[in-house]
Amino acid sequence: MISSKPILFSAIQPTGNITIGNYIGTMRHWSILQNNYDCFYCIADLHSLTTLENNFFLKKSILDTLSFYLACGVNPEKSVVFVQSHVYQHSQLNWILNCYTQFSELFRMTQFKKKRKTKHDHIEKINVGLFNYPVLMASDILLYQTNFVPVGSDQKQHIELTRNIANRFNSLYSSDVFTIPKPLINQYGCKIMSLLEPNKKMSKSDINKNNVIFLLDDISSVNLKIKQSITDSDKSCKIYYDRKKKPGISNLLEILSAISNKDIDVLSRELEGIMYAEFKNIVSDAISKFLCKLQKSYINYRRDESFLKKIAYEGAIKARLKSEKTLQKVQSKLDFFSIF
Ligand code: TRP
Repeated sequence: MISSKPILFSAIQPTGNITIGNYIGTMRHWSILQNNYDCFYCIADLHSLTTLENNFFLKKSILDTLSFYLACGVNPEKSVVFVQSHVYQHSQLNWILNCYTQFSELFRMTQFKKKRKTKHDHIEKINVGLFNYPVLMASDILLYQTNFVPVGSDQKQHIELTRNIANRFNSLYSSDVFTIPKPLINQYGCKIMSLLEPNKKMSKSDINKNNVIFLLDDISSVNLKIKQSITDSDKSCKIYYDRKKKPGISNLLEILSAISNKDIDVLSRELEGIMYAEFKNIVSDAISKFLCKLQKSYINYRRDESFLKKIAYEGAIKARLKSEKTLQKVQSKLDFFSIF
């Protein structure tokens, strides 16, 4: 693949139950980005090992996730679509970069702090993978000489860490082994919040499923979840965007804006004078239409496992080819094979 387009890397963990937050924050942009970038779209199964539970079927989840990638318009002829564990270079570089990352840098990561809290666990019992998670992310990104990583605002800190590690390695070996990546952040839709607690990010691992819309939710339950969702308790029942004063309404506005491809300002004008209940009906209709279409396409891809396997197989070959070049540069800086 010889091209002068900048390189873009993105990934999602294959936990099967992808949320509308994942879609809006990340996957929604993937099909368009393919036109302007050389894209690497990865299924981060090594990352999901950090939170695996017993009843977890990784193979099924990988095929589910891949089907969603395709249903969202990822085109394997244009982009490299692959599974992280199929490309051993990721874990190889991961170990090396561990040795160029400081304990304190990882300890500062807000996502780690949050996961620690939600697990109600003693720190002694937390698996090291969870702590190490951002270094594997850095390896993912740096292996492909990535220029841009489309991320939600909550992942910005991880990109910052990746840049620090890359700069540190480059300057230690006075080289340009790694391209320094930049985050690509959208103004709206970076962070979709929970439906009942709009001050907290929508998360697929939320215990309360009424907080979350999953891409595979059936339509009747989506309608119910939107109906129950929190609107704001201020006196004026106006529909307008203000994350601080009206977190619930603003969140629904962001969802509506993303799936209808309409600007939030335009929507707020259109919705002037409308009551909350009516607004919720509009949002729920829009989500239903959107999910129906997406689920149809998903099911079509999901049915054809041999096609999915072929995509993953070919993707892994392309990803190995590209990542091996970077790994070899690193290995040669470290004099790994110098005894021969
Ligand atoms: N951590 C991301 C998530 O939970 C997935 C991911 C893994 C990723 N490696 C990455 C995202 C590299 C961006 C870049 O969804």
